[in-house]
Amino acid sequence: MPLESPNCKPLVLGIETSCDEAAASVYDGISHKIHSHIVASQIDVHRMYGGVVPEIASREHLKTLPLVIDKALKQASICISQIGAVAVTNRPGLIGSLLIGLSYAKGLAYQLDIPFVGVDHIEAHSMAAHLEHHINYPYIALVVSGGHTQLYYVESLGEFQLMGKTLDDAAGEAFDKVAKFLKLGFPGGPIIDQLSREGNRQAINFPKSFINEDHFQFSFSGLKTAVTRYVQCHGESNLADVVASFQEAIVDVLLAKTVRLSLQKKCPRVVLGGGVACNSRLREKMTQECTKKDIQLFIPSPLLCSDNAAMIAYTGWQYLKRGKSDSFDLNAVPVLAPDSYL
Ligand code: KG4
Ligand code: ZN
Repeated sequence: MPLESPNCKPLVLGIETSCDEAAASVYDGISHKIHSHIVASQIDVHRMYGGVVPEIASREHLKTLPLVIDKALKQASICISQIGAVAVTNRPGLIGSLLIGLSYAKGLAYQLDIPFVGVDHIEAHSMAAHLEHHINYPYIALVVSGGHTQLYYVESLGEFQLMGKTLDDAAGEAFDKVAKFLKLGFPGGPIIDQLSREGNRQAINFPKSFINEDHFQFSFSGLKTAVTRYVQCHGESNLADVVASFQEAIVDVLLAKTVRLSLQKKCPRVVLGGGVACNSRLREKMTQECTKKDIQLFIPSPLLCSDNAAMIAYTGWQYLKRGKSDSFDLNAVPVLAPDSYL
């Protein structure tokens, strides 16, 4: 992409509403500083349903997004007229939720007469590590969240080769579904992460789908079924061992495929992103293995792994500073971009 001059002032307001979090952040593209970082979670609203209810999520965003943006501006100690551009998640995600953020962003851009840019949520997860680290291209990016498990070879900004993805459940979805089955609560990832510390991760030999196959596809639904079968047969007396062994199976597959791709591509840089990248065992094992194999590993702080708007503002700025912005007919796109891109 040609380097052009930015068509805006460097303070970017990031807006994220692709799922159940409404987030806003002010990022300064010149000083590379996050001035504010506000995330309003709806977990308490969705907990009783054991998962995100799309219709409720968008209605909540309608109420909270203006307050979240207000807070982000206050935390950054700026007024709205100082914002130079708006970056907003417009793909992929829950359509109703995406539309709230996108409509708000368009309204602000129109009123303030500043540019706005639509950002791909998955690309933003893969870019979050740049907020804290200087990372050279190319690199391998593993994006693991509640809705996605994707492995990319990233050649440069926006130049992605999708090397593999899940054929069924996303890694975070598997954590959430197993926790729901075991009545541990929602979202399941952090709860299982915590409970696993008390368990023996070698106790049960759960399936690690495709771990030794040459391709880079994932599958977690068989693992989820194996956990439910195990508990139906053996009861719940060793729950900590069950979840620790389940978590180990997920971590081992993610680790094996990511490191193999890095070695195969002779690309000694790996970047993680997405809510599952908060997982303490994944962080620990990935760090150990990458150190052993001489691979540089970049994992964002947990606050930047899960859904947030700083990653949206940062990613948006990368395009804005190259002269790209979107027109008001930009739409929300609920599905993943075609395989050739993201
Ligand atoms: O990236 P994210 O905040 O939202 C999506 O884009 O989906 O990811 C949320 C997912 C949930 O499935 C949640 O259970 C999982 O990330 N998660 C974790 C941990 N923290 C969040 N999974 C495993 N271990 C964790 N510590
Ligand atoms: Zn996400």
